[in-house]
Order: sequence, then structure tokens, then C-alpha cells
Amino acid sequence: MINIVPYKTQDELYDAVAHLFVEIVQKNKTNIAVPTGNTPTLLYARLIKNSTINWSTINIFMLDCYYPQDPRDPESFYMYIQNNLLRHISLPEKNFHILESNTKDPAHECKQYEEAIRNAGGLDMAILGLGVNGHIAFNEPGTSSNSLTHVAKLQNQKFTYGLTVGIKTITTAKKIVVLATGKNKAEAVKNAIHGAVNESCPASFLQDHPDTTFFLDEYASSLL
Ligand code: PGA
Repeated sequence: MINIVPYKTQDELYDAVAHLFVEIVQKNKTNIAVPTGNTPTLLYARLIKNSTINWSTINIFMLDCYYPQDPRDPESFYMYIQNNLLRHISLPEKNFHILESNTKDPAHECKQYEEAIRNAGGLDMAILGLGVNGHIAFNEPGTSSNSLTHVAKLQNQKFTYGLTVGIKTITTAKKIVVLATGKNKAEAVKNAIHGAVNESCPASFLQDHPDTTFFLDEYASSLL
């Protein structure tokens, strides 16, 4: 079942998600999966200013990365999260997890990532962006709902391949938050929430998750 919270302004939307984040991480230990992209940057901008967050009790798991790519490439997801979040906060190094974008053995890397999430106790929350084609993380249309972390063939991206947590990895999170803003996401939002649950829109699988909330601005929610 999907909860929908449409906001008039992006400021209200990001304030609400930042508030939710702070609430969730009050526990002794939390494991949160986080996205890259344009959509989450205003969330990170709020989190880095919030001095009440105790980062030492939080494990951050990145959802995906391009593959193969030097993590030091200025366009890598590693550099994105360094610049937008990590360099501004005191997250212990051991609490940060990202798929190794230049691994020689991607299958092994994916398997280890699943194990790292499991060994940490599973995801308390997954925060997701939404692709205009309905993708979540790098799970493009055609990806099975049973997928675990895997090598993904990308659609409409600069890179041909990526490494990504799977749809099953995401839907085992206790809580899922989807962020979508702007008119170009309205169709994907509609398909995800009201469309058939199938591989043509990977985000539609979230309809079967017990605690998913879409945080939308008025443009992204305009076709609902
Ligand atoms: P965006 O990307 O936040 O840059 O729009 C979302 C996505 O494609 O997953």
C-alpha cells in the first residue's frame, strides 16, 4: 500500500523528509539506503545542517553505481555522496557502504553487498529517487521483483552498465520513501501508484510493500 503526500513547495517536501529521517535514526542503530541524483541533493543539504543527528549509529548503504568506473571520477556516485553528504558529517568510515564501481569481480561484489546489508540487520529505510521510466535505483523496466544486488544493463544513461541493489533488496526494507519532483516525473508517479504491478514499471512493485510513502511536489503529483 502506497501513501501519497503531495506538497505545494519543494521546501515543504524536503523539510518533511528530513524530519522523517531524523525521527527514524533516533533508534540505537539504523541502516538506511540512500540515492544519488538531482532529487535528493536538497535532502542532503538539510541533513548536513542538522546537528541533532548522531551519525555514529547510522549505517549508510548507497543504492547503486555506474560500472565499471573509477570511484574518483568526478561524475561517480562515490564523489556525489562525498560532496553532498560525507565530507560535511562525521559518519565513521565503517558505517559507509557502497558497491565497488571498479571491482574485477562484480558478481562477488554484489553477493558481498547483500551479505553486508543482511549482517548489519537489514534495511530500516530505503530512500529512492524515481526514473522517468519508472526505475528505482538501477532496476530498469524488465527487472524481476525477485532481483537481489546485480549488474544492471542501463537505459538512457551515459554508462551501459551499473551495479545496483535489486527490487527484492529494496522491498525488504521496513520503510520505503520515494522522492519525486517536477512534471517529467508525473507519468512515472502515476504508473507506479495506479498502474499494473509488473516489470514494465519497476516502482509499481512498491504497491505490494506494507510501508511505502511517495513524497511529491505539485508537479510530480499532477496526474494522480
Ligand atoms: P534524478 O534521478 O533524481 O536525477 O531525477 C532519479 C533517477 O533516475 O533515479
